[in-house]
Amino acid sequence: MDYQYWNDYYTKELAPKKPSQFAIDIMKYLEKDKKMVELGCGNGRDSIFFSENGINVLAIDQSDKSIDLLKSSCKNDKIEFIADDFIRTSILNNETFDYVYSRFTIHSILEEEEDILIKKVYNSLKPKGLFFIEVRSIKDDIYGLGLKVGRNTYIYNEHRRRFIVMEELVEKLKSLGFNIVFEKESDNYAVYKDQNPIIIRVIGRK
Ligand SMILES: C[S@@+](CC[C@H](N)C(=O)[O-])C[C@H]1O[C@@H](n2cnc3c(N)ncnc32)[C@H](O)[C@@H]1O
Repeated sequence: MDYQYWNDYYTKELAPKKPSQFAIDIMKYLEKDKKMVELGCGNGRDSIFFSENGINVLAIDQSDKSIDLLKSSCKNDKIEFIADDFIRTSILNNETFDYVYSRFTIHSILEEEEDILIKKVYNSLKPKGLFFIEVRSIKDDIYGLGLKVGRNTYIYNEHRRRFIVMEELVEKLKSLGFNIVFEKESDNYAVYKDQNPIIIRVIGRK
């Protein structure tokens, strides 16, 4: 979760503002005027991009500093920002969303929290709704660096990452009832400065 780390990070306003490659790549699955929730929107770059492309977005992040900045700077009637914990929030209600989008957030939470979250996501999706996930893999170059604090979990660069085993994530999603529309582990998905890690992408349909 690393609340303080993310608040400090977003206060500095150094995070990239252009949409992620993942957001651009999944546009082909999205239809205008449908309803999306982004879990862990950070500085809002992907949520803003989706809203500018006609999607109604609810963007949630624990970082109240980032959400305050977004509320004051982004005036767009297709988007709403909420400062909250996406695991414990009450917004993931029965069949509310067409899309749930989670980029680089599932590796921020504990495995038991992931289990709670993905059940809530399933419940909150409308029939045929899509769950988009991009997340760090155990095949990442930085896997194993820093202090080990749990299974596949390390504190490195002042925050915790729990690297994901793609097959385990896919099996969990399937066991909840998701049909897997796309699953791939690859480089060239999230190139940032001189880093080009192996990243997992999974898309599940309810
Ligand atoms: C690596 S950043 C990714 C931000 C954004 N999705 C992106 O791709 O630019 C992880 C984000 O998840 C948020 N986060 C982590 N755990 C959270 C939780 N339990 N509830 C809400 N936000 C959380 C952090 O505050 C941070 O903004």
